[in-house]
Amino acid sequence: MDSSTRSFDGVARTRAPQIPELSPGGSRSPHTSAPSPVRPRRLRRSETLRALVREHHLRADQLVHPIFVADGVDVVRPIAGLAGHSRLSVDRLESVLSELTHLGVPAVLLFGVPNDKDAMGSGAWSPDGPVPRAIREAKRQAPEQVVIADVCLCEYTDHGHCGVVGADGGVVNDATLPLLARAAIAYADAGADIVAPSAMMDGQVAALRAVLDGAGHESVAIMAYSAKYASAFYGPFREAAGSTPRVGNRRGYQMDVPNAREALREVSIDEAEGADIVMVKPAGPFLDVIAQVRAATALPLAAYQTSGEYAMLTAAAERGWIDERAAVLESLMGIRRAGADLIITYYARQVAGWLLDER
Ligand code: PBG
Ligand code: ZN
Repeated sequence: MDSSTRSFDGVARTRAPQIPELSPGGSRSPHTSAPSPVRPRRLRRSETLRALVREHHLRADQLVHPIFVADGVDVVRPIAGLAGHSRLSVDRLESVLSELTHLGVPAVLLFGVPNDKDAMGSGAWSPDGPVPRAIREAKRQAPEQVVIADVCLCEYTDHGHCGVVGADGGVVNDATLPLLARAAIAYADAGADIVAPSAMMDGQVAALRAVLDGAGHESVAIMAYSAKYASAFYGPFREAAGSTPRVGNRRGYQMDVPNAREALREVSIDEAEGADIVMVKPAGPFLDVIAQVRAATALPLAAYQTSGEYAMLTAAAERGWIDERAAVLESLMGIRRAGADLIITYYARQVAGWLLDER
């Protein structure tokens, strides 16, 4: 029982204070002294009443758990800024996967942390790279888990950009597409259920759809990072993946933060190219974009609560400045309320545990 349930009787017996109230719909009419018949608080008197009229819900089966898969054996390398998350070698995945299954978190999103990088990012499509090996292992251990593979080159390029860098230092769009396509094929061959292109190259969804279909992978879905912003909230991720650009930044391909209309354009392009799920990223600072995209498409909508958003919450909680559980659930409910169907969050495990406790 919470405090408002306990206060039920007292509230019911107490007369509204005799304070003049000017707004219609308030507890007093501006013209008479009669108590207002309009009282939204009637439906807040108990937890059962509140639950009856609750508009949005957060469930474990809406969450996606990101995993950084490292080359090597017996690797558990903690990630600064992502407390509770480590880079894991494939042999260390088993306990995470079984925990997620137990908690009812249905999906994982895999990122590679290779030992070797080159200018093309060729590790991205090596069948012996960390991600294809992790996909095969996940599908063997937990066949019912939805395995999503991020498709980008930045974890595999020595310069840290998401595509091929041209002579002028810019990232060359069309030369990057076949490389992303090769990576997607490698992940589909390994058994991925969904591939998720995150490089923000124009035409990347169409390029992936064409090669997947050509290779007999017409059932592999595409979750498009459609509205992915050039955000300051990716710091801990780049530390984890060693993917900070050595020179320059990603503003020439990721979206400009002030733009919302452009997100609708990106989404409709990806939809036309064959995306099965569209995404807005980051989530918390872009709730308006999530809401607008929700209204503009019938496709399932994913939102990515990024590493920087996670770091802010954990850092404040660690100092005792916020109640972590309440603040995290509120942040995720805000993302759901804005219109996201599924949420990628570094809190997936903890949240699923909290939701189990509430039953
Ligand atoms: C790689 C990629 C990034 C993230 C997801 N895929 C980093 C980036 O674009 O620099 C960010 C995820 C996070 O911060 O949690 N293209
Ligand atoms: Zn990238």
